[in-house]
Amino acid sequence: MCINARMPFRERFVWICTNRRADDNPRGSCAAKGSEAMVEELKRASRVAGQGARVRVMASSCIDHCEHGVIAAVMPDGVLLGQLSAADVPALVRGLDTAGGVLAEPSLAGRQLTAENTSPEVVTRLRKG
Ligand code: FES
Repeated sequence: MCINARMPFRERFVWICTNRRADDNPRGSCAAKGSEAMVEELKRASRVAGQGARVRVMASSCIDHCEHGVIAAVMPDGVLLGQLSAADVPALVRGLDTAGGVLAEPSLAGRQLTAENTSPEVVTRLRKG
């Protein structure tokens, strides 16, 4: 595969889960926690911050950490964030513009999902595949 070296590439990609389940589903869903509005607000704020050529914000299907939603995946950083809301959009925008990424933002660093802080329900489900 030949990639044109002059082709612009974005530096970061952010997926916000906008999956929706029935309100009585025990897993819950990110859309039920406000992710649809959040992704639109993050897109808008990122554009206003001048990140359009460097950062791509997208809605995604379920990232499989539903109980911790709203979930965001940030690549190529390899970071999963949980418990997000629209109030986190300013910190996300700042973090997307730094070399340290979103984890450089104090309000977001503690919400990184890892094997150590992911709920047993999620871990069991992920192990089943
Ligand atoms: S519903 Fe958002 S991670 Fe599953």
